[in-house]
Amino acid sequence: MVPRKILVTAALPYANGHLHIGHMLEHIQTDIWVRFQRLRGHEVLAVCADDTHGTATMIRSRQEGRPAEEILAEMNAAHQRDLRGFGVEYDHYGSTHSEANRALCHEVWAALRAADLVVEREVTQLFDPVEGTFLADRFVKGTCPRCKSPDQYGDHCDSCNSTYTPADLIDPVSALSGAKPEIRTAMHLFVRIAKLQEFLATWTQTEGRLQPEVANYLQGAFLGEELWDWDVSRPEPYFGFEIPDAPGNYWYVWFDAPIGYMAATQEWCAEHGQSFDAWWRNPDTEIRHFIGKDIIYFHCLFWPAMVKTAGFTLPDRVQIHGMLHVDGGKMSKSKGTRVAAAAYLEHLDPAYIRYYYASKLGNTLSDMDMGTDDLIAKINSDLVGKVVNLASRTSRFVAGMGLASNYPEDGGLFAAAAAAGESVAADYENCDYAKAMKTIMALADRANEYVEAAQPWALKRDPDRVQELQDVCSIALNLFRQIVVYLAPVLPTLAEQAGALLGRPIVSFDEAQTPLVGTPVGKFEHMIQRVDGDAVLRVLEASKETAPSGVPAQAATDDGAALAAEPIGPQCTFDDFSRVDLRVARVLQAEHVDGARKLLKLTLGLGGDERRQVFAGIKSAYEPEALVGRLVVCVANLAAREMKFGTSEGMVIAAGPGGQDIFLLSPDQGAVPGQRVR
Ligand code: 2FM
Ligand code: ZN
Repeated sequence: MVPRKILVTAALPYANGHLHIGHMLEHIQTDIWVRFQRLRGHEVLAVCADDTHGTATMIRSRQEGRPAEEILAEMNAAHQRDLRGFGVEYDHYGSTHSEANRALCHEVWAALRAADLVVEREVTQLFDPVEGTFLADRFVKGTCPRCKSPDQYGDHCDSCNSTYTPADLIDPVSALSGAKPEIRTAMHLFVRIAKLQEFLATWTQTEGRLQPEVANYLQGAFLGEELWDWDVSRPEPYFGFEIPDAPGNYWYVWFDAPIGYMAATQEWCAEHGQSFDAWWRNPDTEIRHFIGKDIIYFHCLFWPAMVKTAGFTLPDRVQIHGMLHVDGGKMSKSKGTRVAAAAYLEHLDPAYIRYYYASKLGNTLSDMDMGTDDLIAKINSDLVGKVVNLASRTSRFVAGMGLASNYPEDGGLFAAAAAAGESVAADYENCDYAKAMKTIMALADRANEYVEAAQPWALKRDPDRVQELQDVCSIALNLFRQIVVYLAPVLPTLAEQAGALLGRPIVSFDEAQTPLVGTPVGKFEHMIQRVDGDAVLRVLEASKETAPSGVPAQAATDDGAALAAEPIGPQCTFDDFSRVDLRVARVLQAEHVDGARKLLKLTLGLGGDERRQVFAGIKSAYEPEALVGRLVVCVANLAAREMKFGTSEGMVIAAGPGGQDIFLLSPDQGAVPGQRVR
């Protein structure tokens, strides 16, 4: 086998927040692949970094009155600590705010200029006079100019689905300061990526480059028409790198972020006396990015366009995963399901989530739902009940004598599991970890059946059957070891423990092909413990109440802030109030609405045959499946409203400022649909 030379990256986490279990889905997916390739004998360099530039870092630095660099250093250390805690090992973890990155940005920029891809154009943007900064579209909110729905983003209305520019919004406010933005014009620099359209069409559609649904999406959504110029500059003030030939202008964060992949490589090479060009200017290097489906556009269009123009090695593959949901909903701070990496590590073994993710990750873009009960059940049944159990109930019987000096007759079990190695390897290679885990657990089932039938604990009681006992345990421990070799990319600590128990470290995938004979067996130490359900609850509880270390604790919840944000409205009479007919209703159906960013379509039952179809702006906080069956309170006599997606015949009542913080009201136990709320 000729070893491959593979450079692997995961998306660079933003420096403005702590890592949570959603980030870990990607880093663990990446780490498993890296470890797998290493166990197969390939040369792998895995790099990552913090993504540091942009308005968010600038604002935080102002708010806290300390240099951005100080904040970045703290966040970088925290990110690295969290990653290590989950067993995610990068060869180098850098920062996009580095001299290496600045130099590479200059180089890429010079190439774009030389290829005559950069043009200047005036851009009219909203400007926050309080913060003294231009506002990205998502930092502006206001009323839709078309359908007049309040609280819409600067570029798109979720109610009527129209798109517009922030300047068209009615009563816009800055989400940063609440100030009324001004309209200002500034010069921006654009990259004419349409000039690379043909190249991108070929690159994205090349077999193996992208998952087929991604290639199709890019073709349908972008490549079918002429690509738009990409706006890559921001006028000052901006936290980033100043553009050398456009003073007072900075590269937009998404320009320098992916260049950070190269910068991190460069720093590693400098530290290790290696050649940068051997990685990034070498057609024999495979470059592979792992990213989430929310950032396809940047990695599959702009990034290859930049890499191509600047003459670096193009990525071989961009591997894309879906988003993480927890217990049927988007991760939510208020529900405690947006679990900070640090909070998880305080209470739970990283092996649990590494295995859980692996058992559910396929080579698709589907979102993953992590059910906390499902996690507990799976770990206890698979890892504790099937895998560790093989060693824990056999190793002590042979602790004195070691493994048999010849591998005993096992009815073909070891050979069958060895033969499964290539298919397990193919599944890892193809990022279908779920399939690999399934195969491995089937092997574990067979090994356990063998132990059950052979009953070493009974043999132990019979002094005449010592040889038989040694044989049975040698078989069981070899089957255990084989399974652990296959699991080693996912569970490196278990692999180390198994290596120590059986006196031979696990360093290669091939070790599953040959049984160990005649080696000593050590004392069994705890490997993976059963998941403590209370610890899981503690993690959820801790994630609800406290911010992870390094982030200022949330203000007390009943400090009047909510009231101050939205003061009590003008008085109404009791008659005014009684005109609103509030009823208890049951959610009979809940579905996503194609093309709507905020809305879910609900069918509410008011008892008997009385129904209401309601479009509710709660998608950011609730998964449809989690709603079906529950009771809510609805406005039952609201005039029907025509919306782009259909007629809305009422409203469900909820509290909270929006986003993930939307809280549906529900009645106490005993209420039934149709009852009036007064
Ligand atoms: O979406 C994100 O979290 C970005 N910080 C990812 C950047 S990946 C790369 F381009 F740097
Ligand atoms: Zn609208």
